Amino acid sequence: MRGAGLILAATAALAGLAMASAGLAAPGPRGKAPAARPVTFTLPEETIPEDLADAEGEAVVNHCTACHSLEYLVTQPRGKGAQFWKDEVAKMVNVYKAPIEPADAEAVAAVLARKFG
Ligand code: HEC
Repeated sequence: MRGAGLILAATAALAGLAMASAGLAAPGPRGKAPAARPVTFTLPEETIPEDLADAEGEAVVNHCTACHSLEYLVTQPRGKGAQFWKDEVAKMVNVYKAPIEPADAEAVAAVLARKFG
């Protein structure tokens, strides 16, 4: 038992030596971290897709741009039907908490169904 303890101690000492010689146990380098420089970039301009750029589309633009671009809407597959758009608007309200009054939600869904089917 005593012998085992000695072997352990010797192993630990050797490991310490190895770490020190590899520079691992030495104090950290004195060099400075690279200076953080501010990065500037220009976001793409938010545009209203042609399909929604008329008077009817205004309700959609007003209610559906707070969280994401309108590209999410106009890139949906066509011909999914009115129920799809009702459900889509309901999901935005119920799941993502879009602050849209029920009457407005219905109007928006109707516009989307007319435009994108
Ligand atoms: C409160 C924030 C919020 C508002 C306001 C909002 N959305 Fe969304 N919308 C989301 C989130 C979050 C996603 C999912 C994003 C993702 O997973 O990449 C999403 C995704 C979508 C998608 C992609 C398909 C899907 O179901 O994930 C469509 C279509 C969509 N929204 C339509 C609308 C319409 C129509 C309106 C206006 C009635 C609207 N959104 C308003 C938060 C919102």
